[in-house]
Amino acid sequence: MKSCIFIIFSLFVFGYSVGECKLRLVIMLYRHGDRSPVKAYPTDPYQESAWPQGFGQLSKEGMQQQFELGQFLRKRYTGFLSENYTRFEIAVRSTDYDRTLMSAASNLAGLYPPNGSQVFHPGLDWQPIPIHTVPQDEEKLLSFPIANCPRYQLLMNETERTEIYLNMTKTYKDFLEMVRNKTGLKSASIETVWSVYDTLFCEKKHGLSPPAWVTPDVMKTLKLLKNFGFQIMFGVYKREEKCRLQGGVLLDQIIKNLSAAATLNSNQQLKMIMYSAHDTTIVALQEALNVYNGLQPPYASCHIFELHQDHNGSFSVAIFYRNDSSVTEPHYLTLPGCAQPCPLQDFIRLTHSVIPTDWHKECQISSSATDKDVIVGLVVCGFVLLLLVVVLFVVLCRQSEPVIGYSHIINQSDDHS
Ligand SMILES: *[C@@H]1O[C@H](CO)[C@@H](O)[C@H](O)[C@H]1NC(C)=O
Ligand SMILES: *[C@@H]1O[C@H](CO)[C@@H](O)[C@H](O)[C@H]1NC(C)=O
Ligand SMILES: *[C@@H]1O[C@H](CO)[C@@H](O)[C@H](O)[C@H]1NC(C)=O
Ligand SMILES: *[C@@H]1O[C@H](CO)[C@@H](O)[C@H](O)[C@H]1NC(C)=O
Ligand SMILES: *[C@@H]1O[C@H](CO)[C@@H](O)[C@H](O)[C@H]1NC(C)=O
Ligand SMILES: *[C@@H]1O[C@H](CO)[C@@H](O)[C@H](O)[C@H]1NC(C)=O
Ligand SMILES: *[C@@H]1O[C@H](CO)[C@@H](O)[C@H](O)[C@H]1NC(C)=O
Ligand SMILES: *[C@@H]1O[C@H](CO)[C@@H](O)[C@H](O)[C@H]1NC(C)=O
Repeated sequence: MKSCIFIIFSLFVFGYSVGECKLRLVIMLYRHGDRSPVKAYPTDPYQESAWPQGFGQLSKEGMQQQFELGQFLRKRYTGFLSENYTRFEIAVRSTDYDRTLMSAASNLAGLYPPNGSQVFHPGLDWQPIPIHTVPQDEEKLLSFPIANCPRYQLLMNETERTEIYLNMTKTYKDFLEMVRNKTGLKSASIETVWSVYDTLFCEKKHGLSPPAWVTPDVMKTLKLLKNFGFQIMFGVYKREEKCRLQGGVLLDQIIKNLSAAATLNSNQQLKMIMYSAHDTTIVALQEALNVYNGLQPPYASCHIFELHQDHNGSFSVAIFYRNDSSVTEPHYLTLPGCAQPCPLQDFIRLTHSVIPTDWHKECQISSSATDKDVIVGLVVCGFVLLLLVVVLFVVLCRQSEPVIGYSHIINQSDDHS
């Protein structure tokens, strides 16, 4: 947006006649707001009853964070979105979790307070806005890592054999054993330890004092391991291939939506697509874009795509990350290899390698493995056949020894025909 204003400004200064630089579509993905822990560890003094609504639920603070994000969006997109709620303008989709559905509702309360004739109950500064979802077991867009993908599982197994992973396991072996011992968990690994950190983090945030073993140093190490856990999910080893099977699926849809809005005769009224999801959703998407900063996305952090139409008619994409509500302007992210804002065609070209062409097929354990099986089978069959032929030949030769001269003559006459 800034650069568009700059272009218009500089053209104006130099006396050119200027067209407009127009915002055409905004697509955003945010993490739900502050919540209670998703679970407790066995020796945790604070079990589910310690939380007013139980585990994994949006807290009042979480609602406030989302409401604030909604207000931020209202302000940022004043003049782009209509003053009043218009159903053609916005499409909202959430995962089927209480906390993401409630986050979307809180956000929309901040984004679309009713005005004038849209007020339906005096004194109620709220109006219903539809939020769509699909059942969790049918969620193929916003829940990561997407399940039932053996090839991805294999890549994760291989990740566990990389030097960096083995080094981490070795370096923090005693620490992980201490955590396992103190928490009463059956096992503690780099993949699972985030959950211990998360529980302790939530408890601390809500004023529940931690057990004695949880020193600031322990929290620091848990945090480091948790962030590493986020990094290996879609990055560190064979990032592009992991992303084709994961975040590339969401990016594919987003690119289709951007492209649809950028077709020249597009007179679509849709202005905003809003996805309410999880930290892992943001990480999957940002790894696919290769812009991930290696940190767990905070509550209510928001990844934004803006599709702009330049004064000369061409389209470009600007990406932002709002991971801190105290900062007025969100971080401007740069797609590697492209200036900001990035021309849409370049954006599509640069992300092409992480877009799956056939997700189901690519998720199968590599076709070369099955090819190998076929080849081995063929070789064995061929060998057996050869053996049979040789045996048959030997047998026949022995039987036809008396007429060997005859066959020789036939062979000679054959040569002449
Ligand atoms: C209500 O809408 C009018 C114009 O349509 C606008 O001037 C006013 O600021 C709006 N009020 C609120 C609270 O958004
Ligand atoms: C939008 O709100 C304003 C102020 O209440 C009202 O005058 C106007 O009719 C509304 N427009 C639409 C399209 O609902
Ligand atoms: C990955 O490793 C686990 C445990 O070692 C094993 O059960 C699973 O079959 C492996 N998956 C693949 C796809 O190799
Ligand atoms: C292993 O990890 C330690 C501690 O994080 C680090 O200092 C060291 O450089 C790492 N070694 C390798 C080979 O990655
Ligand atoms: C934790 O370690 C202590 C001391 O080594 C031991 O007595 C205790 O049984 C361990 N607890 C678990 C759950 O492993
Ligand atoms: C985005 O694109 C996908 C794939 O083309 C389409 O199914 C979906 O309806 C689009 N979303 C919106 C809000 O237009
Ligand atoms: C927010 O994102 C920026 C850009 O990736 C990063 O530099 C910063 O450390 C992040 N802040 C938080 C609180 O995650
Ligand atoms: C349109 O303008 C942008 C800069 O605003 C430039 O990058 C792009 O190449 C131009 N496209 C055409 C077709 O001239």
